[in-house]
Amino acid sequence: MKHFYITTAIDYANGSLHIGHAYEKVLTDVIARYRRLMGDQVHYLTGLDEHGQKVQQKAASEGVEPQAFVDNVAVMFGELIEKLNISNDDFIRTTQPRHKRIVQHILQDLYDRGEIYQGEYKGYYSVRQEQFVAEKERNEDGSWPELYGEVVELVEKNYYFRLSKYQDWLIEFLQQNPDFVLPNFRQKQVLEFLKEPINDLCITRPKERLSWGIPMPFDEDYVTYVWFDALINYLSATGWPEEGWDRYWPADYHVIGKDILVPAHSIYWPIMLHAMQVPLPKHLLVHGWWLAQGGSKISKSAGNAVDPLDFIDEFSADAFRYFLTREMNVAQDSEYSRELFLARYNGDLGNNLGNLVSRLLNMAGKNCADGLPAATRNDEPEQNVKAHWEKTREEVLNFYEEFQFHLAMERVMSFCSTLNNYLELRQPWKLAKSDKPEDRETLNTSLAVVAEGLRLATVFLKPVMPTIADRIQELLGQPAIDTWEDRLDWGNRLEGQVLGAKTILFPRPQPPAES
Ligand code: MSP
Repeated sequence: MKHFYITTAIDYANGSLHIGHAYEKVLTDVIARYRRLMGDQVHYLTGLDEHGQKVQQKAASEGVEPQAFVDNVAVMFGELIEKLNISNDDFIRTTQPRHKRIVQHILQDLYDRGEIYQGEYKGYYSVRQEQFVAEKERNEDGSWPELYGEVVELVEKNYYFRLSKYQDWLIEFLQQNPDFVLPNFRQKQVLEFLKEPINDLCITRPKERLSWGIPMPFDEDYVTYVWFDALINYLSATGWPEEGWDRYWPADYHVIGKDILVPAHSIYWPIMLHAMQVPLPKHLLVHGWWLAQGGSKISKSAGNAVDPLDFIDEFSADAFRYFLTREMNVAQDSEYSRELFLARYNGDLGNNLGNLVSRLLNMAGKNCADGLPAATRNDEPEQNVKAHWEKTREEVLNFYEEFQFHLAMERVMSFCSTLNNYLELRQPWKLAKSDKPEDRETLNTSLAVVAEGLRLATVFLKPVMPTIADRIQELLGQPAIDTWEDRLDWGNRLEGQVLGAKTILFPRPQPPAES
């Protein structure tokens, strides 16, 4: 059976790990979990991009060998993934033999078929930054910016991949596949870029300048350019070209941030695959960026790079996942701060969902400890709740399908508000004091309706808050959610069910300690 194969970008292993990296894994996880619940066999790949100059420099600055350095980073990322409750099926590291072997195989094959050639590059080179710099970077007076230090003219032999030859093919492919890049406006950006002629891609670095890379199979004086190496991870992880690789390939979605769409994922990667005669992935799903509140870029030096592990430790992985999912419209950028997080945590999770759970369990414990009664009344308030569920169900399924997860969460929370409002209307806590049989009937009905509504709402929370969703199901006496197939219909599944004891799912945050 062909798997639903979904990947994240592989993070640079040069140390920093922030909310942006966490987000991409959570977003991909939400999709992966959603597809599993819909019955797909899912294969979720994430990993680390471990070669290149930055890693080499960082390792040197710490006085360790690059391999030892990346091994350490891999442990840190592994810890993040576990704490975020990411359900990945594989984790690829570009220093693994399974990957290096395939990169070399591809290079040799493309070289043998004339897709790679040796050429000469003449340009300006910053000795301090160890990189080529473009003429346009000069200051107005013709000098070079301070950060480049000494700049010399250099002629360097390198190997090139014939990218330009495929430009027309790529344009035609994109025109014929308007949904290759999602959201659509991003595909337009790619086509815009392709209006200018593209150059062949330099895919090597001389070993004397950079040793931390995959050696070229046909010339040991060179290592592979890090992007050429990294993109191949999506394919090498499938075991290509060994038997069974097509259980996964073509990938259904490569999930990436907007900064690495052009040129890497939308130009290099499709052309590399085409030249290799391998089918293209079905879609690139491109998300926006997390910015610090006020719109500034996340950076360690600005002191605004929150460590996602801090949020998880202080609150919970589920609360953090909810914040990321509810707050970000996949197509756009989004802002974060502790205040924005707390607004969601206290508002949506504490006062709305958490309050609903504790009210229900409290009243059920007092009034129907032997089991939930049936909902025997079906008056306007009950009909309104059910009608709102039917609408919510339809909308949320669509939003999941269209990657509009922030709206899916908004609708689920809105349905929880409806349940809270319904309780305010029926006031079962007052009815409990009455002896009248009709009041008892309304009380019973209201608890049954709220329990059923809560059961359904939490089914939709499972991809985003897997632990909380199953915990609530457990409190309602239900098994863990492993499919959506028969779990979304309004019914009386909970009749006779003894509910769990009152619990606080989202404790109030502790005020910061006085210093
Ligand atoms: N190593 C390359 C990707 C190679 S994929 C074959 C890379 N690494 S990265 O660590 O810089 O970024 C990894 C992913 O995190 C990218 O998709 C990037 O867009 C995403 N993000 C990095 N900072 C981000 C935010 N501030 N917000 C959201 N995502 C961001 O690029």
